[in-house]
Amino acid sequence: MISCWFFLRSFNPNVRNLTYMEFWNWIGRFHPILVHLPIGFIVLGVIIQYMSRSARRQGWKVLIKPVYFLSFCAALVSVIAGLLLAREGSYNPDTLFWHKWLGIGILVLAFLLWRMRPDGSGRLTTATGAFTLILLIFVGHLGGEMTHGKDYLLENAPGFVKKLASYKGDASYQTFLDPDSTVIYEDLIQPFVDQKCVSCHNADVSKGGLDLSTPEGILEGGRDGAVIEASAQQSELFGRVTMNPSSRKYMPPSGLPFSYQEIKLLEWWINSGASFEQTVTGVEVPEDVKRILIQRHKLDTKPKTFLEKNTIEALDSSLFAGIEAAGFSIKPISQTTNFVEVRWKGNDSLSINEQIKVLDPAKAHIAWLYLAKSGIENDALKSIGEMGNLLRLKLENNPQITDEGIENLTNLKNLSSLNLYNTKISDLCAPHLASIPSLRKLYVWQTDMGEEGINTIKSKIPNVEVIGGYEYTESN
Ligand code: HEC
Repeated sequence: MISCWFFLRSFNPNVRNLTYMEFWNWIGRFHPILVHLPIGFIVLGVIIQYMSRSARRQGWKVLIKPVYFLSFCAALVSVIAGLLLAREGSYNPDTLFWHKWLGIGILVLAFLLWRMRPDGSGRLTTATGAFTLILLIFVGHLGGEMTHGKDYLLENAPGFVKKLASYKGDASYQTFLDPDSTVIYEDLIQPFVDQKCVSCHNADVSKGGLDLSTPEGILEGGRDGAVIEASAQQSELFGRVTMNPSSRKYMPPSGLPFSYQEIKLLEWWINSGASFEQTVTGVEVPEDVKRILIQRHKLDTKPKTFLEKNTIEALDSSLFAGIEAAGFSIKPISQTTNFVEVRWKGNDSLSINEQIKVLDPAKAHIAWLYLAKSGIENDALKSIGEMGNLLRLKLENNPQITDEGIENLTNLKNLSSLNLYNTKISDLCAPHLASIPSLRKLYVWQTDMGEEGINTIKSKIPNVEVIGGYEYTESN
């Protein structure tokens, strides 16, 4: 090999400029091509050996030994090239370990096949040949996995093939449940940068003057300045991983390249401001990225409703009868949740202000409470104030309710819809309503709540929609 190098150097002006390292790296790059030779020879050897068992083809036997000799030579060259490539690249160390040692194992087997029996025939050689072939398939698969990534063969396979192989995407991607707490860089981007770039770009080895192992290093950039700009298209870092892979500037120069999904995620991160703290909730997520987040990380970016996110044990069914007897109707909101809706049905002989206590054992279960025109008074609202999972509360047409009663509702930390239409509330209760940050819909039509009160509420809860209010009452 060394003499070959001097030979090439002697008359090729380009090679003369190559450094010693680069030359061996260059030889290493031939490994993926060279490995096909021993595979071909060993397959050929095993076939000839098998065929020559027939009496008619005894003459073939003379070929066995030379073919296995060629297998050994080819395996030797492949192993040398492979070791050179392994030295240079940033491959998954576990896979590399097995690929390397099993590959060397094949070299030993090829040697044995060649030397085993002078005529190269016989049971033991055939068995060894067959075993070597099986090992070859396995080693080849590991090699493919390192160059193309895990699941390379399955990624685009038809559905039934994926099912057969129980392919669920790469299981090594972490699962995230909540967009609110998933940090884009740290959780979604950093893992593949660490895996594919940091071996050459860290605090100790910073190729091109670039350290990609910390946010500070990324912001600092490399020898040629910043690697992140306002958009992905302008960013050196993005350009390097999306350019033609045969370019000398393509990153990574060896080892696993970024996959399509990773490039899309990187593009999204840079275009959303390349922040190291931003969570998924804080930015716009394009449709294709949404799909990637679900596929790769099981992260659903559709905002989940309270009822989808939360579960509660079923209410003791013996309670239902008592609640119904007290003048309410009660039933689960849907088949998929144990939260219930409760409605006042009204009854001349029953007063809600006395019966409301019946709901106490169910106070954690009540998500929707409909008490319109029930005659409920301020004091009875205390019981409602303890229903921590209440999402929707209808109190309209209850003229006994005043500002004082609203004070009882300030602990309803999940309440999103509150109807106070035609009650006796005014601006005075606005600070209390403003302390329910989950509020999204507030009906104050036909009350004394005016512009001032509504502004107080909106300044604290910008997302709230106030329906009715002074505009409506004034024009009436
Ligand atoms: C096998 C080592 C190796 C790996 C792995 C690698 N790089 Fe590099 N990188 C280099 C070398 C060497 C240079 C300097 C030569 C050049 O600029 O092309 C460089 C330069 C760069 C530069 C230019 C820095 C500057 O300012 O000049 C960027 C950007 C870059 N790499 C990004 C990446 C990214 C992103 C990855 C991961 C996909 C990666 N690199 C993986 C070796 C590597």
